[in-house]
Amino acid sequence: MSKRVRKAVFPAGGLGTRFLPATKVIPKEMLALVDKPILQYGVEEAIASGIEHIIVITGRGKSAMEDHFDVSYELDAALERRGKNDLLALSRSVSSMARISYVRQKEPLGLGHAVLCAKELVGDEPFAVILPDDVIDADPPCLQQMIEVFDEKGGSVLATMTIEGPGISAYGVLAGSPDSANPRIYNCTGMVEKPKFADAPSTQAIIGRYVLTPRVFALLETTAPGAGGEIQLTDGIKALLKEEKVYGYNFTGKRFDAGDKFGMLQATVEFALKRPELGEKFRAYLKGLEL
Ligand code: G1P
Repeated sequence: MSKRVRKAVFPAGGLGTRFLPATKVIPKEMLALVDKPILQYGVEEAIASGIEHIIVITGRGKSAMEDHFDVSYELDAALERRGKNDLLALSRSVSSMARISYVRQKEPLGLGHAVLCAKELVGDEPFAVILPDDVIDADPPCLQQMIEVFDEKGGSVLATMTIEGPGISAYGVLAGSPDSANPRIYNCTGMVEKPKFADAPSTQAIIGRYVLTPRVFALLETTAPGAGGEIQLTDGIKALLKEEKVYGYNFTGKRFDAGDKFGMLQATVEFALKRPELGEKFRAYLKGLEL
């Protein structure tokens, strides 16, 4: 069994109803944040964190994701004819980015079920899960930070961020206490999926980055539907916790919920401001707005 985290699973089979009508035909993972599909941000983070094999869990009507990471002969030939070498290099860099496999999730039965669809491709080794809706701006990349904790501790690691207030009810919430040597690391004792604010066991909201041991697959196979009638990843990890150590990691960086209109707008503004070709002009435009 490889001890190295080499594979990352991207659950991307969902319907994306929060972005209708934009997502009637276009997968939500293909919506552009400035000029790149949100899925590509996650793929780039995975590669920058040392991941060698990307496994995308896809579903009906979402083949645009496969086309995006494939070679586009027509586009490349047209760019070559027109001498657009920069754009050609950009198009080719996307198609040569990583080894990517696709697995169809036949029915949207929940996040835990989506991860379980990757069981055969992952095999008996630790792996990462990246929820593409969660776009994270961090240096070093969030997943790299987590893999470092996994390598040090040897147990599964869940990314967390601190949320004070009722907003925490939208997340899985970690129970546990900070490690005395590194207060960003939490020794996890439990977790609750989308609790009422009053019942939240801590201020540590689990966000969409996980490093998991392969034992979780067998446990997900027997996980019954939970919150929202779905097979929850959180419930599978709770079962894992009975057998193995699990850690929370309050990563450094900023997370945007690009699966939500407001979060997508925030990410658009902040990522555009950071772009060398856009930042200055966009900042001046924002300053000139009468708000
Ligand atoms: C999922 C997980 C939840 C986690 C969240 C992070 O929920 O089930 O535990 O906190 O992602 O984005 P979803 O947002 O898919 O409802």
